[in-house]
Amino acid sequence: MHKLAVFGNPIEHSLSPKIHAIFAQQTGVYIEYSKQLAPIGDFKQVAQDFIKQGGTGFNITVPFKIQAFEIADELTKNAQAAGAVNTIKVQGAKLIGENTDGIGLMRDLSANLGVSLQGKTLLIIGAGGAARGIILPLLEQNPKRLMIANRTASKAISLANEFAKYGKTCGFGLEKIKPSPVDIIINASSAALNNEMPNIPDETANGAICYDLMYGKTTKFMQWAQANNAIKVVDGLGMLVEQAAASFEFWTGKRPMTMAVIKELAK
Ligand code: ATR
Repeated sequence: MHKLAVFGNPIEHSLSPKIHAIFAQQTGVYIEYSKQLAPIGDFKQVAQDFIKQGGTGFNITVPFKIQAFEIADELTKNAQAAGAVNTIKVQGAKLIGENTDGIGLMRDLSANLGVSLQGKTLLIIGAGGAARGIILPLLEQNPKRLMIANRTASKAISLANEFAKYGKTCGFGLEKIKPSPVDIIINASSAALNNEMPNIPDETANGAICYDLMYGKTTKFMQWAQANNAIKVVDGLGMLVEQAAASFEFWTGKRPMTMAVIKELAK
């Protein structure tokens, strides 16, 4: 029996219990998966209580991914690079921290949307936690280059420098985006939370696949992409299901099928 949970604040609208229940049914693994509202500032205590009660693993969402990174005793390469943890496995007395966000995005692009990243030019918008969490798995697919553009240029530059050892990266301010062809634009900014749109030249979307990490609503970025001849406009629902699948596999060793779940949730 796997006693699992997701911790966040807020947490009410999390789709994770539903997704993991479907995975459990599919794979025949017996799990219990609950939503846990952790008070801000009290995540560590709540997580420790869950483990004392027999918790074998948990997901961590906003705003606790950095605190989850801090409580982990061991980190996977992805978690280390992301500087944040969204999945913890309890292994004896040790907490193993993983980050499946980037794997989730990469799998949604490659397996579900049929987009190979090899040799492609990628442009990430934003240089905060969400951007940091996805860069390593993208670079591991050998894109031609990965550009990071951010409203505050210095943050994009330092993030690009940090990841330069894994592949060809460069960072700059949004105003420096050139209208040269980009294959895939990934919106990792939090602009949509304020119903805003990052200031990107319209021509950038022309012929590009535009992927927003947000899901559950059509963002301004998605509307902009549609209006400016993107060849495909995608929200982050597939990534959500894929990161859940990677977490499920990390805990149970069983790989669930995701396509039917994505279709079900998209209804
Ligand atoms: P998250 O963990 O969601 O990435 P974050 O670390 O606060 O949140 O980072 C938010 C990112 O969205 C930042 O890159 C931010 O740009 P700044 O570094 O200049 O603050 C970006 N962002 C937020 N609102 C934006 C907007 N209206 N236009 C462009 N970028 C925006």
